[in-house]
Amino acid sequence: MIDKEIEKALNDQINAEFYSSYLYLSMAAYFESVDLVGCAQWMKAQTQEELVHAMKMYGFVAGRGGRVRLEAIKGPKKDWSSALNVFEDGLKHEQDVTGRIGSLVELALSKKDHATNIFLQWFVTEQVEEEASFNAVIQRLKLAGATPGGLFMIDRELGGRVFQAASPAEQDAAKQA
Ligand code: FEO
Repeated sequence: MIDKEIEKALNDQINAEFYSSYLYLSMAAYFESVDLVGCAQWMKAQTQEELVHAMKMYGFVAGRGGRVRLEAIKGPKKDWSSALNVFEDGLKHEQDVTGRIGSLVELALSKKDHATNIFLQWFVTEQVEEEASFNAVIQRLKLAGATPGGLFMIDRELGGRVFQAASPAEQDAAKQA
């Protein structure tokens, strides 16, 4: 049976992952409105990734005999001033999520809940990737995005992102199995 405080903290994180998904869908909608369809595609893939995160946590809580309780998801921001502004907000958001995951790990350790600690390690690794992927786009936008041609080129590249249910590390592990 899962500790009640941990169950509550994981439920809060399920809500936070759904919020992340909602936020990135709002960013996608902004990009559609300014005709940056590649950026919109990138954000829609990110939206789906966040749903996977939420469902991974849902499965863990339910699988350990805990109770998943869904709460209202707050409304996300709707407007931004530029593509760079969107991705900088996204990075800030991911940094907040990294902090939340760190607090969850600390809680699991303080309760000597090794199963939750091990489960959360996937999210610790994932957050490194999440921050890096936002950071990479920010660097590209800073270098080339200031010119209309540069922004168009980056938009086309970002449109190539396809949602993958498994992380690159998980895909490598699956290939080797
Ligand atoms: Fe679920 Fe982007 O972290």
